[in-house]
Amino acid sequence: DLDCWTREELYFFLDQSRHMENVMDRPVKKVPALRGKMCVNLFFENSTRTRVSFELAEKMLSADVVNWSVSGSSAAKGETMRDTAWTLEAMGADIVVMRHGAVGAAQYLASKLKRGIVLNAGDGTHAHPTQALLDVYTAWKHFGDLEGRKIALVGDVLHSRVARSDVIAFKTMGCEVVLSGPPTLMPREVEQLGVKYDRDPRKAVENADMVYMLRIQRERQQDGLFPSVDEYHRWWGADEELMKYANPGALAMHPGPINRGVEIASEVADGHQSVILEQVRSGVATRMALLYLCGGGAR
Ligand code: CP
Repeated sequence: DLDCWTREELYFFLDQSRHMENVMDRPVKKVPALRGKMCVNLFFENSTRTRVSFELAEKMLSADVVNWSVSGSSAAKGETMRDTAWTLEAMGADIVVMRHGAVGAAQYLASKLKRGIVLNAGDGTHAHPTQALLDVYTAWKHFGDLEGRKIALVGDVLHSRVARSDVIAFKTMGCEVVLSGPPTLMPREVEQLGVKYDRDPRKAVENADMVYMLRIQRERQQDGLFPSVDEYHRWWGADEELMKYANPGALAMHPGPINRGVEIASEVADGHQSVILEQVRSGVATRMALLYLCGGGAR
């Protein structure tokens, strides 16, 4: 996660990401930074944005890329995550990008690999650090210095690894962070996160520079959604009315995939304040920067 990053390190990283975004705009989108390195994308959970952007980033840096998913692999025969990773490391993997449903999975794997680097592409409800990096990068491109800016994160904080990493990253950048959502979808330790909570999204969003809608994670709610989808949308769903409480130039953000008509109305998702697709593009640039820095390209 990002709890060990300083603001200076984040700014250094943002500069690196901007250089990488320039590579994305070149006619030939390729630099030799990771030539000869092998990256394995190990996804135990579904993904579109994170998996594809890591793959694109690796290819633009000229790494060799292997994509692994549970379906069709020996994990389906009972092989453990550790044995799978050791097997791939024995074949020469230098960097393992892993998404897993268990909290702490990336940390655990990093302690087990002999030489490979592990990048966390999301571990259970704990952390999604590369999402937070791309979110900060997107905001920084719009506002520059983020000190004193306000971000309101609205939705299912309880199940959101994005929320945890974003709270850390935006606080480190000097932002005021406010959470909102149904009490049933808030973690008990919300005060320990060092942020404010307001059940009323209109109050949370007041004067915000960034309104960040979190996905309702139905796949992590075994007992069904409470409140119901209709109730949720009526009270916490972001529509143009809610956006009026934010600053006029506020950004409407969402990590994706979006549930249209649940946490976000199409008029906001596709509206002039939406930077959702910019966030997706930022994901490639920031993951390139991360791979470059961790993979030895900076030496
Ligand atoms: N934001 C995000 O992690 O999206 P994916 O699940 O599609 O990777």
